[in-house]
Amino acid sequence: MTKAIVVRSLGGPEVLKIEDVPLDAPGPGEVQIRQAAVGLNFIDVYFRTGLYKADPPFIPGKEGAGTITALGEGVTDFAIGDRVAYASADGAYAAERNVATKHLVKVPDGISLETAAAMMLKGMTAQYLLLQTYQVKPGTVLLFHAAAGGVGLIAGQWAKALGATVIGTAGSQAKVELALANGYDHVIDYTKEDFVARVRELTGGAGVDVVYDSVGKDTFPQSLDCLKPRGLFVSFGNSSGPVEAFNMGLLSQKGSLYATRPTLFAYIATREALDACANSLFDVVQSNKVRINIHQTYPLAEAGRAHTDLEARKTSGTTLLIP
Ligand SMILES: NC(=O)c1ccc[n+]([C@@H]2O[C@H](COP(=O)([O-])OP(=O)(O)OC[C@H]3O[C@@H](n4cnc5c(N)ncnc54)[C@H](OP(=O)(O)O)[C@@H]3O)[C@@H](O)[C@H]2O)c1
Repeated sequence: MTKAIVVRSLGGPEVLKIEDVPLDAPGPGEVQIRQAAVGLNFIDVYFRTGLYKADPPFIPGKEGAGTITALGEGVTDFAIGDRVAYASADGAYAAERNVATKHLVKVPDGISLETAAAMMLKGMTAQYLLLQTYQVKPGTVLLFHAAAGGVGLIAGQWAKALGATVIGTAGSQAKVELALANGYDHVIDYTKEDFVARVRELTGGAGVDVVYDSVGKDTFPQSLDCLKPRGLFVSFGNSSGPVEAFNMGLLSQKGSLYATRPTLFAYIATREALDACANSLFDVVQSNKVRINIHQTYPLAEAGRAHTDLEARKTSGTTLLIP
């Protein structure tokens, strides 16, 4: 047996209840890990509420890090005692778990398991957004919404290291200051200021090359008005609710724009892609160009309180659940 959070019906944070659950031996291609930490991500909210499809009962969570305690049949590339992490394996909210090795990477020496759990999903997201969905380089001017959030703080530092001019938005003065200390050149409090007007002002009327928008409903379609002609709109989340009924005509009206709706899981779908993305993240963290700070921790049993705070915009940066 082990402890895990089990969702027995979709709903609010109160449906996240800790239970004793059976823990079988790992199956073929799986290992068993004792988890040091579980990463909290906004996607966990979407599955809990039913915005993204999941059938209860299920153990939520996609990200964690721990130590291998048992090997399933056929596993040759991992050993008992290896320190490993993952960002795409459902069922993370548990003290111990079995996980298919296709999701795992080894955590390099010098990176703690807690840091790994805090950075795999958010950091690999920053990696593909900045280096694959669009190639950020010296001279790029970009806008990143929710700059003081988990993905936002990593992306700000990384974009700065790539030589971009980095504009962010955030929902309070404290978050504005935090983002400014994490790579952002300019941060707009979008609860107080018209971010479109401010972006136009900051760019001398030109607009930005790319907008990274994970807020969704509340920043659409205004985000499109921040772009240069032929700029790229990257919609990668729904923190305020999903963008619905996207009218393709808007892309023409607002300057022959491009739009994409990417997801990390498509960018790390093969072993080669996962290793390349994770190694790129490990390199940038080990070079100290991107620092991973853990901003909040909660006991795993209090996952409901963590969700409440995340949805109420009370968190900033990364959050861990500790089994
Ligand atoms: N597509 C992908 O591959 C991918 C991968 C990872 C994450 N994501 C998305 O990226 C976003 C960030 O994820 P995260 O885990 O790092 O979360 P987060 O940014 O730490 O938290 C979400 C932030 O969104 C902002 N926000 C704006 N309106 C909100 C509202 N109505 N309710 C709640 N929050 C609101 C808040 O910041 P302010 O108070 O500053 O506005 C809040 O702190 C999420 O939308 C997530 O789904 C997508």
